[in-house]
Amino acid sequence: MKKVLIIGIGAGNPDYVTMQAVKALNEVDVFFFLDKGEAKEDLVNLRTTICERFIKDRSYRTVEVESPQRDASTPDYKSGVHAWHRDKADIFSKLIGDELRDGEVGAFLVWGDPSLYDSTIRVIQQIVAERRVAFDYDVIPGITSVQALAAQHRIALNAIGEPVHITTGRKLTEGLPPGVDTAVIMLDNGSGLRALAGEDVDIYWGAYLGTADEVLVAGKLGDRVEEIEQLRARDRERKGWIMDTYLLRRSPANDRS
Ligand SMILES: C[S@@+](CC[C@H](N)C(=O)[O-])C[C@H]1O[C@@H](n2cnc3c(N)ncnc32)[C@H](O)[C@@H]1O
Repeated sequence: MKKVLIIGIGAGNPDYVTMQAVKALNEVDVFFFLDKGEAKEDLVNLRTTICERFIKDRSYRTVEVESPQRDASTPDYKSGVHAWHRDKADIFSKLIGDELRDGEVGAFLVWGDPSLYDSTIRVIQQIVAERRVAFDYDVIPGITSVQALAAQHRIALNAIGEPVHITTGRKLTEGLPPGVDTAVIMLDNGSGLRALAGEDVDIYWGAYLGTADEVLVAGKLGDRVEEIEQLRARDRERKGWIMDTYLLRRSPANDRS
């Protein structure tokens, strides 16, 4: 039987790789690397560093393919995502079918943790459900950008006994849902941040967390929003891509914590 490992490698710092991930990396015969647009070089570097640093006395193959891009012109966001996952399922099943021999272990290295805003698990489940190729699979957790953000700002995510809402910049443009005092926002192109700028909330923002380019800003959102927008624009220009995550907390929730 073939085996596929979906390994979370942490959100940027090779030191985020867990002992479980190191063990898993040392079982892999073939790494499937999907190259993603702008962040390509940094992603390739991180994956290469991780393999070189943590894999000992073992030879492995790597297979690189271009990751399909989501068609942003599809009017309905969810059907666009479904079509994108279908394209990925075609590529993944070909990789597992053609590049992995019976009894071998293949792996997808996932930025951060595979459970959070990542399609790998869903795509693999789709292939299994459609019985396209026979294989078994396991998931190895990784340190998410949310955990990296909280650690770098030295904060707890939740106020005492309260929930934390994790969402996207796209969703935040509709405002924070009623009753939500603490939210973590990912995948924001800047529109979510701007939408909340008039509200009385604290922000803990981080870009390129865990990497040499890391930037952190904290304070009242209204006081900090322009500085963050300038940093985003500067770094996007300098590096060609940006990855940022932030926590917003309504002020009264702060008092309760
Ligand atoms: C496709 S999601 C992947 C999330 C990832 N699976 C995780 O566990 O963090 C990409 C988003 O994660 C966040 N992100 C990932 N790595 C980050 C980092 N090193 N610094 C800041 N934000 C990061 C950003 O919000 C980015 O838009």
